[in-house]
Amino acid sequence: MDFKEQIESRRTFGIISHPDAGKTTLTEKLLLFGGAIQEAGAVKNNKIKKTATSDFMEIERQRGISVATSVLAFIYNNKKINILDTPGHKDFAEDTFRTLTAVDSVIVVIDVAKGVEEQTEKLVQVCRMRNIPMIVFINKLDREGKDAFDLLDDLEQKLGLKVTPLSFPIGMGYDFKGIYNIYEKNVNLFSGDSKKNIEDTIAIRDIDSPDLDELIGENSASELRDNLELVEGVYPNFDKEAYLQGHQQPVFFGSALNNFGVRELLDCFIDIAPSPRAKMAEERLVQSDEKELTGFVFKIHANMDPKHRDRLAFIKIVSGTFERNKPYLHVRHGKKLKFSSPNAFFAEKKEIVDISYPGDIVGLHDTGNFKIGDTLTEGEQLNYKGIPSFSPEHFRYINNADPMKAKQLYKGIDQLMDEGVAQLFTLEMNGRKVIGTVGALQFEVIQYRLEHEYGAKCSYENFPVYKACWIEAEDIKNEEFKEFKRVKQKFLAQDKRGQLVFLADSQFSLQMTQQKYPTVKLHFTSEFN
Ligand code: G4P
Repeated sequence: MDFKEQIESRRTFGIISHPDAGKTTLTEKLLLFGGAIQEAGAVKNNKIKKTATSDFMEIERQRGISVATSVLAFIYNNKKINILDTPGHKDFAEDTFRTLTAVDSVIVVIDVAKGVEEQTEKLVQVCRMRNIPMIVFINKLDREGKDAFDLLDDLEQKLGLKVTPLSFPIGMGYDFKGIYNIYEKNVNLFSGDSKKNIEDTIAIRDIDSPDLDELIGENSASELRDNLELVEGVYPNFDKEAYLQGHQQPVFFGSALNNFGVRELLDCFIDIAPSPRAKMAEERLVQSDEKELTGFVFKIHANMDPKHRDRLAFIKIVSGTFERNKPYLHVRHGKKLKFSSPNAFFAEKKEIVDISYPGDIVGLHDTGNFKIGDTLTEGEQLNYKGIPSFSPEHFRYINNADPMKAKQLYKGIDQLMDEGVAQLFTLEMNGRKVIGTVGALQFEVIQYRLEHEYGAKCSYENFPVYKACWIEAEDIKNEEFKEFKRVKQKFLAQDKRGQLVFLADSQFSLQMTQQKYPTVKLHFTSEFN
């Protein structure tokens, strides 16, 4: 395969869902199809258990395992599929947001009984902001759930999607008979056999054919005909271009657990999902088929072994090829680095590779050179647009609990923030440090890791903040901005990049501030221009 064919054959995507909708199960079935794993249960054991709220050993163990599952790659129909794992636990949502900067498309899993849930809303919103192509998979059709049309409505109303069903269920739950595949024009009958890997499909070229009545019974056939007529009347035809631009989202129905509807999803996915796309850098748009390597760090994973503080930095290759032992420019440091053992990922294993292509993820051993968002090139001064931070949900002062270990503490905090474990804010007024996290769990993770990896001790103190807002001033010299800074001094801080942040202590104070200082714009994400 030449360079262009290599790019064309790659599909790098993420699966997002609210916890329990079936993301892990679906991932596993996709791997089964790719022949990447032999039996069910292999991925399942790796997921961060919902019960692991404060069990450090469990967190540590799972962190270790999830290095391997961070990228699950396999070959299917001559396509190289890279699934980027996104943690389901909501306390790690920030991690998921960052991973979404490295995907070329997304599959959204929805539970048929629960419909659109909170976590899905947040994640889909991020994908919509970035016009990431999305396919929706409505899961657990073997169970009683919501009406298919209600669900499609839900997707439009709550998620703001423009959907077009490419398959449609025949019955549901106890009465679930199968799925009509609108994309391929055939019927797939449900047998409820979860061990079955390849399903038999029956081609129904003409929906009015009596064969359909014979196959699923007169009542179901007539109901299906009515439903398909409605689908045709209400939803637009599938438009690949609109999908690729993030303006239309095809929907599939199925049951991941029963391996039902998964092949249809996968076949359509490799057909329509984009190969690695061009990416915007601060300086210019970089095309994936450019010859010179460019890539960026979207994730850093700390080593499990506290004696070796080395980490694995995950690079998404945007253009060119990444070659072992070739020097690349670390743009932020302005120095060249060579990597003798870049890791590629295959199914659940990682192995050293000589060459990787756009769309691939390479894991580089790192002793502290990298932070999230760093760019590698062959010499060009190029910086991929920063990975945005979102307002954390929990805030606490962090104090040094062992005065002899101040240096270790600050080094530890610095490195953990580079990894993206949490966000650090330094108060303008007194220089005190405040940690902001998405979930309460991170505070414990930080405390544990500071102690075990850096030999430092910290304590926390409550700091009631409602939201962190990144500040955009129309004119930093105008009187309004000066007054805002003076009056709100107590609530101002700098984030790690030195951007000014307003830490609002309540929704009310946030609203009042917005009204009083209309030229000072407050944003819930650090990326607003
Ligand atoms: P997640 O990664 O999105 O959190 O979800 P996961 O795949 O772990 O699935 C959550 C639960 O839903 C699991 O049950 C799983 O077996 C079940 N599930 C997934 N797909 C389907 C489906 O198509 N039909 C039905 N009926 N159930 C499905 P669990 O009891 O939490 O775990 P386990 O004991 O089965 O491992």
